Amino acid sequence: MKEIRIGLLGLGNIGTGTYKALEMNREKIEKLVGGSVKITKILEKDIDRERDITVSKEQFVDSIEAITEDPDIDIVIELLGGVEPASTFIEKALLAGKHVVTANKAAVAASWEKLNAAAKKTGVQFRFEASVGGGIPVLTPLAGCAAVNQYTEVLGIVNGTTNYILYKMTEEGMSYEDALKDAQVKGFAEADPTADVEGIDAANKLSILMAIMFDRYIPPTQIPRAGITGITKEKIEEAREQDCVIKLIAHATLHDDGSFTYEVRPTFIKNYHPLAGVLEEYNAVYIKGNLVGKLMFYGPGAGPLPTGSAVLGDVTEIARSIV
Ligand code: HSE
Repeated sequence: MKEIRIGLLGLGNIGTGTYKALEMNREKIEKLVGGSVKITKILEKDIDRERDITVSKEQFVDSIEAITEDPDIDIVIELLGGVEPASTFIEKALLAGKHVVTANKAAVAASWEKLNAAAKKTGVQFRFEASVGGGIPVLTPLAGCAAVNQYTEVLGIVNGTTNYILYKMTEEGMSYEDALKDAQVKGFAEADPTADVEGIDAANKLSILMAIMFDRYIPPTQIPRAGITGITKEKIEEAREQDCVIKLIAHATLHDDGSFTYEVRPTFIKNYHPLAGVLEEYNAVYIKGNLVGKLMFYGPGAGPLPTGSAVLGDVTEIARSIV
């Protein structure tokens, strides 16, 4: 039986969730692949941290080359987070002929051109389904079975932390600070929650969505954005009086005259709109296509096991193609 060998970069929150998800569903995954799937090497400094998984010390390595120069490794999973050194490591792996899977929206959005060029150069797969919408299968269908559409609009609730904060403020009258703390305890927030609450994380995800849907790469730093730090109880009441809820929306539109607009900002959403029912840390991506009409992809947008599900989905697709 063919064995697919994986090098994992990062054994933090998401790395541990992915490792655990593979242990939980190994039988199902290996049946889909038609071979065995094994994480043989892990690049991680914090070896001694208590984790609810079985990892042997021999699996840990301390240099990226131990993985990229290992001819037995087929796939690299990058779950370090942040633009660097993740982008450099992904590029190195792609140029070394390894297929790469990542959940790292910051690296994919910032280094889009460089990383896709590297994958093209060596003819390997570069997949990042988990980078937008956590566990929601959204990029693969948008780039695959729905790609025959001319897309005209995307409205996304693509940050779980801010959706959770706005939900708690709206439904439970919780203060902004308490709701943020709660989201951090639950493991949705970034290490530095500034990226969440200032809309930077949502801009990274919008950059990826626009590249996939409209074939336009806009670096995340060029996306106009406003976060949720200025949202007060008064604003939430004002929305309620207009039969609306406030959501942090990542929005891009291809207009009839050919112009293209994009932004991330808190938006009043009418209560009857499907996006208004996206609660807690859930995410949704609502799109319009000229053939299919309106579609909404909905599900858990953050968290170790949902993100692990999307990562392993990409791994399984690649592993199947290798087998
Ligand atoms: N901090 C991100 C969020 C994690 O809250 O959505 C998932 O990308």
